[in-house]
Amino acid sequence: MVLPWLYILMSLLALAVSVQSQPGFLSIDCGIPGDFNYTDDTTQMFYTSDAKFIDTGTNKEITAIHMTQTLPRQYRNLRIFPDGIRNCYTLTPVIKSNRYLLRASFMYGNYDGLDQPPQFDAYVGVDRWEINLPSNSSLYVWNEIIMVASLDYISVCLVKTGNGIPFISTLELRLLDNSTYQAANESQSLRLYTRLDPGSTSGQRIRYPDDDYDRMWSPWVENFWTPIDTSFSINLRKDDGYQPALAVMNTSAMPTNTSGNLSFYFPTSHVDPRSQYHVFFHFAELERLQKNQSREFNFSIDGKYVYGPFSPEYLSVDTIFTQSPLSGKDQHVVDLYKTTSSTLPPILNAVEIFTVEQLTSPTDGQDVDAIMNIKAIYQIKRNWTGDPCVPSSYIWEGLNCSSPDSKPPTIISLDLSSSGLAGVLAPSLANLTSIQSLDVSNNSLTGPVPDFLAQLSSLKILNLTNNQFTGPIPAILLDKSKDGSLSLSFDNNTNLSGPPDINHCEAGSCKKKRKILVPILASSISALVVLIIMVFVLRKFTQRRRQREAVVWDKTDGSIHKMQYGRNGSLHSENQRFTYTEVVNMTNNFERPIGNGGFGTVYHGQMREGTQVAVKMLSLQSVKVLSHPRQGCNEFQNEAQLLMRVHHKNVVPFIGYCQEGDNMALIYEYMALGNLGSHLSGTNSNSKALNWGQRLCIALDVALGLEYLHNGCRPPIIHRDMKTTNILLNERLEAKIGDFGMSKVFLQDDEFTHISTAVKGTAGYLDPEYFNSNNLTHRSDVYSFGVVLLELITGRPAIIRNADYEKRTLVDWACPIIAGGDVQSVVDPRLEGDYDINSLWKVAEIVLACTSPRSIERPTMTEVVAELKDCLGTETTAERTRSLNIDQVEKTSSITFQPSPR
Ligand SMILES: *[C@@H]1O[C@H](CO)[C@@H](O)[C@H](O)[C@H]1NC(C)=O
Ligand SMILES: *[C@@H]1O[C@H](CO)[C@@H](O)[C@H](O)[C@H]1NC(C)=O
Ligand SMILES: *[C@@H]1O[C@H](CO)[C@@H](O)[C@H](O)[C@H]1NC(C)=O
Ligand SMILES: *[C@@H]1O[C@H](CO)[C@@H](O)[C@H](O)[C@H]1NC(C)=O
Ligand SMILES: *[C@@H]1O[C@H](CO)[C@@H](O)[C@H](O)[C@H]1NC(C)=O
Ligand SMILES: *[C@@H]1O[C@H](CO)[C@@H](O)[C@H](O)[C@H]1NC(C)=O
Ligand SMILES: *[C@@H]1O[C@H](CO)[C@@H](O)[C@H](O)[C@H]1NC(C)=O
Ligand SMILES: *[C@@H]1O[C@H](CO)[C@@H](O)[C@H](O)[C@H]1NC(C)=O
Repeated sequence: MVLPWLYILMSLLALAVSVQSQPGFLSIDCGIPGDFNYTDDTTQMFYTSDAKFIDTGTNKEITAIHMTQTLPRQYRNLRIFPDGIRNCYTLTPVIKSNRYLLRASFMYGNYDGLDQPPQFDAYVGVDRWEINLPSNSSLYVWNEIIMVASLDYISVCLVKTGNGIPFISTLELRLLDNSTYQAANESQSLRLYTRLDPGSTSGQRIRYPDDDYDRMWSPWVENFWTPIDTSFSINLRKDDGYQPALAVMNTSAMPTNTSGNLSFYFPTSHVDPRSQYHVFFHFAELERLQKNQSREFNFSIDGKYVYGPFSPEYLSVDTIFTQSPLSGKDQHVVDLYKTTSSTLPPILNAVEIFTVEQLTSPTDGQDVDAIMNIKAIYQIKRNWTGDPCVPSSYIWEGLNCSSPDSKPPTIISLDLSSSGLAGVLAPSLANLTSIQSLDVSNNSLTGPVPDFLAQLSSLKILNLTNNQFTGPIPAILLDKSKDGSLSLSFDNNTNLSGPPDINHCEAGSCKKKRKILVPILASSISALVVLIIMVFVLRKFTQRRRQREAVVWDKTDGSIHKMQYGRNGSLHSENQRFTYTEVVNMTNNFERPIGNGGFGTVYHGQMREGTQVAVKMLSLQSVKVLSHPRQGCNEFQNEAQLLMRVHHKNVVPFIGYCQEGDNMALIYEYMALGNLGSHLSGTNSNSKALNWGQRLCIALDVALGLEYLHNGCRPPIIHRDMKTTNILLNERLEAKIGDFGMSKVFLQDDEFTHISTAVKGTAGYLDPEYFNSNNLTHRSDVYSFGVVLLELITGRPAIIRNADYEKRTLVDWACPIIAGGDVQSVVDPRLEGDYDINSLWKVAEIVLACTSPRSIERPTMTEVVAELKDCLGTETTAERTRSLNIDQVEKTSSITFQPSPR
């Protein structure tokens, strides 16, 4: 009985969606100044500038003669794109998988005085969006589609076609109710053909605020129709998500010839006759029918009965729409005809017609994320905008993609040669899983050749020529190269060495390696091969011998600085990963906990050769839960390997990590004197109060370490959790920064959790601007560093309690006093007045600058370092002070320092 292709919307889930204000609306007035916004007088809609959504283009104004009183304000300005072929807007925020109405409008307005409207193309995502501009300069057009957002942004591109400069006047995005216009889905969108208000009495176009979704209804009056209207309020069904504007629904058209049909047709010939159409009819009975009256009619399309009989309900909206599209005709004819029993003719309150646009599949999402990440990491200056692979005519320079028929396209080759790349190979390359050819030749890339390259199963060409890679080439890559499955070039990398030490690779890959070595030997290709292998083996032995020498624990010297030995060799880079058994042995079965960090407990440990270590076991809850656990682990591993490359005398040496199932650990060099916080608070009971000279040296050490993280690392590292308990002191009282970098891996998915953790753990250090911008920058570290300095001056914790146990930050308490010119009343009494007042003032001034509420007013760490060096006189004086410290420490070193729990 129910016809498959027409469908009456009867009862959908009640969706009490309120669109009273403008949630889900994004209204952009293109071409107005970047910091400008306004509420439109007629529509009450809030418009912002487009500057946030695009980096390119130039603002223009239409000529004065076209700026009439009736012209909506949005059309006075436009943005033009004289440069580049394709310029794209990125519209956010957008909720993925939701349905949106997207409207772009264009008013040329003879802004250039040429009186020649250009022709150009527009794209939504990767799909062409046909724009036909009127040839009359005083007119504007708008184009609208209904689409499902496939990503968490929508990209709108304007593309030159050789007929003038593309431009745009407005972009409007409206979130629709999920239950509406379901013909628009992931694989097709609906392009508006027309949206009409039959029987309109006002003759006005109706939109927001009358229409909740800001659909624009144009009046439609015919002389063979009789308009009917009502002043009664239509009852918009709560369960009807369409909610056409009341002002539209309370007028309707009826054929003047009461026995005739209500008919109309729409031509399709001006577009492709194969194209498909969907029609949406909206009805409400506006007359109170008498007992003997009835209005009942059937639907026919292109001469065929399709649905009926249907009677509109009194003052209540019904929406009826085609379920399969109309197609294959030059024009489509719609007839509403009354049934024989009906006493009244058909009516129609509102109608919408859409064409169906099939969507091209965009590039694989993981590939898009990866290439976007690569673009950001290396700050690639190419015109890489829009989708990387689609449409194929705008494929990104340097990329090749799989053919668009195999949906969705993936990146199969990436040529980044001679692109000025610096830093390490981006871990996100590992996510380009279909890549066959990767060329990074002629750049300044550093660091090891990462193992993940070997996991790219399709990789056939890898060109690393002319870079500064260091360390060994992963054995698996060499194997692939040997068996011919990979063309590997790595000339002109002076620091690159042979395959890694067999003893230090995992059991699995060692076995694999032997398996491959045997056939090579057996086939005895040439004596040369044997010779090469012998050279490798020899190297291996010498390396191991050097390593043993390096790790002998010299008891007279305190602990071993293993990382320093390994800095330029391949020594440390192979000992990064430990098994869980090794960790258990190292810590003597977790015998001695020495602290409790945010991510888990820290244990004291000792390596076989004697090096003392701090082993941070990571609790599982702290590791972000990913839908794909393997990738979470990869990320941990990638991050740990990045940390391996951070070497600075003021950063706690990172020795390695363990990752075996749920057991994850980070292994650092043990810092004998514990953390700075415990020294300042006096909980480190064996320590004497630090004197001013020592405090200054510590301040400079920390500043140098932080400066290195910010400027000496690529990519730069933002510490994110700078505080005195993350500053560790070795037996020489040299300060080293710990716990950097990992906050990126942990709890990153849930930034909010991270914030609240940080607030709990590190209140008093948090950059106040961070709350507004929601964006941690290196200037946030500078703020926290300022708090550390203030603790060094005052000897008080970052959060202080008054007698009433009310909490207050140290900054709030001390900075106003210092700014008032009185530093001596906040200075740590334990210094007993033994400080140089000038250097104290200088440090206090640095504190005020660093803790400035506005991040742009804070100095960089480079500036802070220079100021602190100034404080210490010269660097040589600093060294003198330092050697003095060593004397002092040696004197007291018979006392064992117990690092207190962190
Ligand atoms: C609107 O503009 C004003 C003044 O430039 C600015 O303070 C405000 O933040 C803007 N509002 C939005 C929502 O962008
Ligand atoms: C990008 O730049 C290249 C060379 O500068 C040019 O050939 C290409 O057409 C540009 N592509 C786009 C989409 O603008
Ligand atoms: C352009 O449109 C305006 C308004 O519709 C009209 O008055 C004018 O005559 C048109 N100009 C041309 C050249 O068609
Ligand atoms: C709408 O539907 C999509 C896909 O079914 C879903 O992801 C989304 O959360 C829904 N939106 C709302 C507001 O219910
Ligand atoms: C979208 O709708 C069309 C027509 O109803 C249907 O053929 C297609 O399978 C749908 N696509 C998706 C991804 O749901
Ligand atoms: C690789 O892709 C996964 C899933 O899309 C993502 O979670 C991960 O962060 C990506 N890895 C890198 C290094 O970008
Ligand atoms: C690798 O890059 C270098 C420099 O660009 C080039 O000379 C060489 O031919 C490339 N090798 C391969 C195998 O493509
Ligand atoms: C290696 O570097 C030298 C000197 O810079 C250069 O002449 C040579 O062409 C480079 N080799 C390759 C394969 O690029």
